[in-house]
Amino acid sequence: MKYLLSTLLCAALLTACGEDPSSLPEWTPADHAQPPSLQDPAGRAPARREASVDLARTLYMLHCASCHGAGGKGDGPLATGLTVPDLTAAATREKPDEALVEKIRLGGAGMPAFGGTIPPDGMQAIVAYLRGLSPAED
Ligand code: HEC
Repeated sequence: MKYLLSTLLCAALLTACGEDPSSLPEWTPADHAQPPSLQDPAGRAPARREASVDLARTLYMLHCASCHGAGGKGDGPLATGLTVPDLTAAATREKPDEALVEKIRLGGAGMPAFGGTIPPDGMQAIVAYLRGLSPAED
């Protein structure tokens, strides 16, 4: 009887584990990719553009909004006593990216220099962010 029971137990275990292990799919490097739902149709890394806009906004809010205001209109709390330009006005919008990056890098006339604080691609991203702020009515 004891022998019979253990034979039955073995048989049951063997059946449970009897699936052929080679039927499991083998891992390939492609399994590491993002699921298609997270990729945009152009196949770029997901949400990369949004991430750089978020980064630019964060840099702007951290370093610039105190004078230039959250919307770029020059009405930040530290603007009093300074002549802070409205960055959404035509006068600024008409300037090329390089000129704005240069101003951010070197500062001057009441504006601090950010060349040692913000890397060049950060400054570039801020300028792109400024271009996207709603323009002044002028
Ligand atoms: C302490 C206040 C202050 C802070 C902080 C500040 N700015 Fe300025 N910003 C100024 C002032 C004042 C001017 C005008 C300088 C001038 O007349 O040359 C100016 C000018 C500029 C201009 C030139 C606009 C034009 O039409 O030529 C840009 C672009 C600019 N700031 C962007 C930034 C950015 C981006 C930051 C953050 C990284 C920043 N500023 C931080 C005060 C500030």
